[in-house]
Amino acid sequence: MRTSEKTSINHKTYTLKNWQGGYQSLKQEYDYWVEDIEGTIPPELTGTLFRNGPGLLDINGQRIHHPFDGDGMISKITFTDGRVHFRNRFVHTEGYLAEQKAGKILYRGVFGTQKPGGWLANMFDFQLKNIANTNVIYWGGKLLALWEAAEPHQLDPHTLATLGKEYFQGVLSTGEAFAAHPHIDPACVFDQGKPCLVNFAIKPGLATTITIFEVDTTGKIIRKHAHSVPGFCFIHDFAITENYCIFFQNPVLFNPLPFVLGIRGAGECVKFQPHQPTKAIVISRHPQKQPIQTLEIPSGFVFHHANAYEDNGEIIVDSICYANLPEVKPNSDFLQTDFDTLPPGQLWRFHLNLATKTVKRQLIESRCCEFPCLHPDKVGRNYRYVYMGAAAQNQGNAPLQAIVKIDLTTGEKLLWSAAPQGFTGEPIFVPRPSGEEEDDGWILGLVYDSEHHRSDVVILNAKDFTLQAKLHLRHHIPYGLHGNFVKETFI
Ligand SMILES: [Fe+2]
Repeated sequence: MRTSEKTSINHKTYTLKNWQGGYQSLKQEYDYWVEDIEGTIPPELTGTLFRNGPGLLDINGQRIHHPFDGDGMISKITFTDGRVHFRNRFVHTEGYLAEQKAGKILYRGVFGTQKPGGWLANMFDFQLKNIANTNVIYWGGKLLALWEAAEPHQLDPHTLATLGKEYFQGVLSTGEAFAAHPHIDPACVFDQGKPCLVNFAIKPGLATTITIFEVDTTGKIIRKHAHSVPGFCFIHDFAITENYCIFFQNPVLFNPLPFVLGIRGAGECVKFQPHQPTKAIVISRHPQKQPIQTLEIPSGFVFHHANAYEDNGEIIVDSICYANLPEVKPNSDFLQTDFDTLPPGQLWRFHLNLATKTVKRQLIESRCCEFPCLHPDKVGRNYRYVYMGAAAQNQGNAPLQAIVKIDLTTGEKLLWSAAPQGFTGEPIFVPRPSGEEEDDGWILGLVYDSEHHRSDVVILNAKDFTLQAKLHLRHHIPYGLHGNFVKETFI
């Protein structure tokens, strides 16, 4: 259903039971041409959509505590000559292979999964399972599955076979983090206008080290610089402009004792501090240029930024903010999430004035939303259109069942909804090869259809949000996290 966003839906648009279906493990690995298609696949749409997310929500029947602890599974959706091919494979991390062989949980998860046997079996076990489940990128001729606390896994883009860990010719050391949120600067001012992938790593502690990596088109790290900032940082994403990297330091306290004693996962030891400000940390991309600048903004929690750009001495940052960070509790069941008790994620625009050290902010979208995306050529630049997964109801927190488009110039909004049976996630904007306008292209999304317990790949016309095609997969794909589209095909 396509609507202008003026349509007001306040009632509940989902049932918990329908939503829960998308959190069943997908154990089978498939490889087939999609034949059950409604509508027409645009003939100009050629390339590959790679997606990553937790494919297993249990290990041989032992449930994991939180989806973020689920083993990474890559989906590869290839568009070629008006046809679509699907393939999925698990990332063969050391932890995945060991647990599948043992048929039981062997590792503690960051978000509360514990080994069987109670706290005695878990205390003093600090071994991290690199689950490679958060994002997948194709850059420098390599397909990389990313997880924010450790090194990437390289995959074969044709078969999705796991080839090993990636160390960027020795620049990354064993176990060193490489975050799951790289951004591609489409025309880097330091590299004669060539594209450049910018990413970061967090080493938390009493003081936190933020390392910035810039990777050229051949996959070589050409700039790497580290910065120390005071306090513990829980930072999942960042934003870039032509000259800066911007991080939001969420106001949280970390008390590691319950983790050390085997009672809680490390992620369950993070407590939101509602009376402390969030800090915007601005780091120059010129390694030797300027000191870090820190600006205070009202308290809130941010996972994802939509974009940032420089504008007349200000840095504009668009981010999805929550009023607080709900705790992941040890005895809770994520399948029983009471969405009505959670704050909605809302899109805000922040104006960071580096000269006056002040910040102004404005609410752009109050509807619950997540997973923003935009035209790839506009990353770090002034832009007009943002696309996000969104709730179908326009108030409060709720599962994502829609995709919203916002014109940041006029304020006009368009909404495509899959409610009541459908559940969405991250949209991906794919520019039309011959297109010139910023919204000339398509939105690709994976939608879980709870009525048939299967997932659909949907293709929307990004201009008017009309549905172009719905490709019915033969199975469901558990709710995923992030992915990317590339022009290349690997059939
Ligand atoms: Fe993310």
